[in-house]
Amino acid sequence: MLKLTYLSHSTFMLDDGSHKLIIDPFITGNPTCPIKVEDVKVNFVVLTHAHGDHLGDAFTIAKNNDALVIAVNELANYAAENGCKAHNMHIGGGFNFPFGRLKFTIAHHGSSSPDGRYMGEPAGVVIKMGGKTVYHTGDTGLFLDMKLIGELDKIDIFLVPIGDNFTMGIDDAVKAVEFVNPELTIPMHYNTFPVIPADPNEFKKKVESIGKKCRVMEFGETIEF
Ligand code: NI
Ligand code: MN
Repeated sequence: MLKLTYLSHSTFMLDDGSHKLIIDPFITGNPTCPIKVEDVKVNFVVLTHAHGDHLGDAFTIAKNNDALVIAVNELANYAAENGCKAHNMHIGGGFNFPFGRLKFTIAHHGSSSPDGRYMGEPAGVVIKMGGKTVYHTGDTGLFLDMKLIGELDKIDIFLVPIGDNFTMGIDDAVKAVEFVNPELTIPMHYNTFPVIPADPNEFKKKVESIGKKCRVMEFGETIEF
């Protein structure tokens, strides 16, 4: 069993009944997020990169919950400097955590901290949890190696940005669905700010037109798989 909750932007919570994990917890200052930082109860915080709209409240949440921060080396060190427990990894590497296996993938983007420090490479992440495999791309442009990611692991749930400007827009994201070939696609990283407007239903129609399933989640909605 896997419960997946979408908190808007690129923020998702995963819950297998015994472990809870949050990815890219952008809550404070996120006009579309329906919950408060104090409401987040998790054991793990997974970060794709250090931009403010992804690092977000990670350190507060990790410290409030005594949760483990999982990130690429440079960003994990930064979390440790900020008083968090951290697990250092890097792109291409996987590790078996209590909730399941997590592997970092490439992403074409940047990754500096809000105070301007170099935070290593940005990443995507493939997480096997509760009998499902979830691929969260992080912030990225389209890249052909998504085909390889979809070949190495059968992706059940594909979380893909559609907001354009900083990441893929709708048409490139549809191509990404073709490359990854997941069971279900859920769009993310749109309508949070004026520069990333996108109609998720237009994306859904385009994904369905290539014979794939897509679900547009409400902000705050939970799906159980
Ligand atoms: Ni970013
Ligand atoms: Mn972003």
